[in-house]
Amino acid sequence: MSDARSEALAAARQILETEKAFGVSEIVSGEKKETLASLEAEFKNCALCALSQTRTQVVFGSGNPRAGLMFVGEAPGFDEDRQGLPFVGAAGQLLTKMIQAMKLRREDVYIANCLKCRPPGNRNPLPTEIATCHPILQRQIQLIRPKVICALGKFAAQTLLKTETPISRLRGRFVEQGGVKIMPTFHPAYLLRNPADKKLAWEDLKAIMKEMGTL
Ligand code: URA
Repeated sequence: MSDARSEALAAARQILETEKAFGVSEIVSGEKKETLASLEAEFKNCALCALSQTRTQVVFGSGNPRAGLMFVGEAPGFDEDRQGLPFVGAAGQLLTKMIQAMKLRREDVYIANCLKCRPPGNRNPLPTEIATCHPILQRQIQLIRPKVICALGKFAAQTLLKTETPISRLRGRFVEQGGVKIMPTFHPAYLLRNPADKKLAWEDLKAIMKEMGTL
């Protein structure tokens, strides 16, 4: 390599190092920066577990990629599997009402699930399925960097908090994890079966609003 060429390369490297120091990482690495869209594309045809054989499609998640508040549920059900969107069935309608009660719209928040594929017959997720899918959820959380995550129900709360404590004991209290405050509450499907507990869930949502400065 000529002296001029190696000098030019050294100068370019110096500029990139400076950019890196200021956080312009996508230029330095030369790699494509990961986005929610690129992550979704990566797992569009995911076959990491057997649910890929029975699902209609992967239900990645939806909402504002810069949301301050993220909801995490369990797994897609029948309607979600058909439409490719999270929480669009009966439980989803209640979740929409819960979001609206917080003076937000679905488009303001981000909604995802522990599992991206529907378990057949809406059975509970298996521990191996949760473990296999968890890195995708973690990458979603890292990309969105919400201030608060509302964990909907036992599977989301226990998965995010890495505990087996029942949801009835976890709900109502924030746990901070990696700079994100996690609030477990009851799953909307549970609330449809147990409407008396809606008032407890509302307390949890109000605690989130307080944390977000909107109450
Ligand atoms: N229940 C969930 O946990 N997630 C959905 O997307 C729908 C129902």
